[in-house]
Amino acid sequence: MTKKLFIETLGCAMNSRDSEHIIAELREKESYETTDDIKDADLIIINTCSVREKPVAKLFSELGVFNKKRKPDAKIGVCGCTASHLGEEIIKKAPFVSFVLGARNVSKITEVLHKDKAVEVDINYDESEFAFNDFRTSPYKAYINISIGCDKSCTYCIVPMTRGDEISIPTELILRETQKAVENGAKEVFLLGQNVNNYGRRFSGEHEKVNFTELLRRLSRIEGLERIRFTSPHPFHMDDEFIEEFAKNQKICKSMHMPLQSGSSKVLKDMKRGYTKEWFLNRVEKLRAVCPEVSLSTDIIVAFPGESEEEFEDTLDVMRQVRFDQIFSFKYSPRPQTEAEHFTDIVDEDVASNRLTILQNLHTQILDEKNQTHLGKVYRVYFEDLNQDYFVSGRSDNNLVIKVKGSDELLGKFRDVKITQIGRTILTGELVG
Ligand code: SAH
Ligand code: SF4
Ligand code: F3S
Repeated sequence: MTKKLFIETLGCAMNSRDSEHIIAELREKESYETTDDIKDADLIIINTCSVREKPVAKLFSELGVFNKKRKPDAKIGVCGCTASHLGEEIIKKAPFVSFVLGARNVSKITEVLHKDKAVEVDINYDESEFAFNDFRTSPYKAYINISIGCDKSCTYCIVPMTRGDEISIPTELILRETQKAVENGAKEVFLLGQNVNNYGRRFSGEHEKVNFTELLRRLSRIEGLERIRFTSPHPFHMDDEFIEEFAKNQKICKSMHMPLQSGSSKVLKDMKRGYTKEWFLNRVEKLRAVCPEVSLSTDIIVAFPGESEEEFEDTLDVMRQVRFDQIFSFKYSPRPQTEAEHFTDIVDEDVASNRLTILQNLHTQILDEKNQTHLGKVYRVYFEDLNQDYFVSGRSDNNLVIKVKGSDELLGKFRDVKITQIGRTILTGELVG
């Protein structure tokens, strides 16, 4: 008999892929099917994120709600990055939780399910070659992990403590998984890792040393695969060879995530990011010289400990020079086990909020100016989502979200679309081919 699984996924694309792996294992080995109705579930899983404090604080109130809503015999499991760093503490605070499974222990999901109060949170556990069963939320686009963990030590970041050391997944496994996804109908792959362009640094067994640029070349030879995206590349590892391959390889989508974090070389040094303001700007210049149509997105942290008004101005300066197409911006949030947790020169909360508002307003202004240039242009869109009101949406090569009137017949297809209406997060257009 099939059982029902309710799973909530927080955090980044890596967590989304981990959730797909969890679902795949539970479907194949334990006959679970997913449900959107928590009251109907036999198993409730929350796949957590701990990159900032807020979602962690929310976990226990959310668990309380799950506990009230669940069927009397339904199990509750906590997975992901908060599971990794809080471990047993979760069961101490919420004794109705049946198991805690860290972000580096996903393959043990069917084991912990049958143990009482199991806690599996070893961040040195190596599942880089584990053959997960197959499950994908979207048939059109496939998330493919290319590495696990992170070897950097950015002073603000908890991820190396929740996902452990960086290990690259063997090239042949990545190629095989991509091939399979393409055979199942995906025309686009999204390569995932905390530092994708550091690929090949370390494998767990004896494997051919292939770097990220070479991996991209090999992937692009797969017939039927039309688009390659990836996240996150690190600005430090953006060498000329990588940028040139990015520009000339037709299958690589011309949209690059360049996580800046701060525009001040002093703050970048305190963050241990490994690059300066000048290096970042130089990489943008190089990229735009060889690939003028590239769209750029970034991550920015404001009010890192010690960030002065002038240093914040440096971030605004980079924003004005680069004119990013998309930003993900955050107030610094102190995290346990990180170096910056012990930094004392904390920026006042109102100053931090004010800086975030200034930054976001500047971005909105830039975006509104840039968006006008899309009007009347034609973009090739790969349709992936059926929206309400008979709209179908997808992305252009350079990552614009575009919708047109249409039906599910468009899903999984490439069509040319002329932009007729501008919105901040989504453009509207009409099919022209
Ligand atoms: N590996 C990626 C980042 C993953 S975490 C990279 O190096 O770019 C995603 C984003 O969360 C980071 O880019 C950063 O902007 C933000 N972040 C991480 N730790 C944070 C913290 N302590 N406070 C606020 N934002 C943080
Ligand atoms: Fe965190 Fe830095 Fe690793 Fe990104 S590169 S996951 S910010 S430690
Ligand atoms: Fe991702 Fe959050 Fe973990 S951003 S790596 S799920 S801490």
